[in-house]
Amino acid sequence: MDKYILGIETTCDETAASIVCNGKTILSNYITSQIDIHAKFGGVVPEVASRYHLESLPMIINDAVSNSGIDKSEISAVAIATEPGLAPSLSVGFAYASGLAVNLGVKLVHVNHLSAHVWANFLTVDHVIEIPERSLCLLVSGGHTQILLVEIKDGKYFSKILGETLDDAAGEAFDKVARLLKLPYPGGPELEKLAKSGNPKKFQLPLPMINTENYDFSFSGIKSHISRLITSQPEILESNALRADVAAAFQNNVCEVLATKLIKCAHEMQITNIYLAGGVACNGFLRNKILEKIENSGLILNFPHPILCTDNAAMIAGFAINLI
Ligand code: KG4
Ligand code: ZN
Repeated sequence: MDKYILGIETTCDETAASIVCNGKTILSNYITSQIDIHAKFGGVVPEVASRYHLESLPMIINDAVSNSGIDKSEISAVAIATEPGLAPSLSVGFAYASGLAVNLGVKLVHVNHLSAHVWANFLTVDHVIEIPERSLCLLVSGGHTQILLVEIKDGKYFSKILGETLDDAAGEAFDKVARLLKLPYPGGPELEKLAKSGNPKKFQLPLPMINTENYDFSFSGIKSHISRLITSQPEILESNALRADVAAAFQNNVCEVLATKLIKCAHEMQITNIYLAGGVACNGFLRNKILEKIENSGLILNFPHPILCTDNAAMIAGFAINLI
């Protein structure tokens, strides 16, 4: 019998609800972002985020259920992202989802937000993706940067961290450098836009940990390097061209390290299928850099649609199939 799961996501500043059939087919996917609200603070304010989750949840869940094509009596389980995330946002989502599950008389499934990001690669609206038994995933979000070994055993998902950042996450570094370059929040997509017109060779920046034996990363040094560069050459902030050059050099070096280590890991582990996940996986420069580097190598890269890279509830509803 088909399993229809209602997923709810409130770990940070996106309030989202979605219905997914059998872990893979998206029937509805609704998101409301609080970007405009937090932009004036330059970042997410946890207490403000939780208040908006509470206000938005009834409407967003109603949209997800009423536009899914199924009746709410057909929902098999409610899935809620329970970790990691901002404590006030998590508790609002958990309380709401618990009440809803009791009300519907179905199980409440606790989903790890990071595993769900990886699962976003296996979601579609019109066909079913076969998941390879062994693959690698580069998870690059605002809070995490990890290379994961992903295995499907007896139809269930397992993952193991092979490498991770020792300090800032890649998305965090994008956001912090964007702020140094006086770009609006959220910085990652703005920095990618600015970098398009820049010369990545104008400023020499480090390629942190590119030659280390392990699969770990470090991105706080490159951010500090840019902070010192701007202090010593304040004219950078006066010129759009120079700001674009710094953005391009930063984006190039971060993506170069991410791509090099991911591909090295795939070769060493003899894994063919590689995936991207998390907000930074929206970055076109990163996607293209990996695609260029793996041309004729036998490696296969897949990544989710941008709407499924950043925080969403379809990934929560989808991943929950492993837990019921
Ligand atoms: O996965 P996500 O939506 O939330 C977390 O779970 O953290 O990721 C958000 C992060 C932010 O740091 C944001 O700046 C970054 O993803 N991001 C990007 C791009 N789009 C989003 N970073 C670089 N280039 C982008 N196009
Ligand atoms: Zn996320």
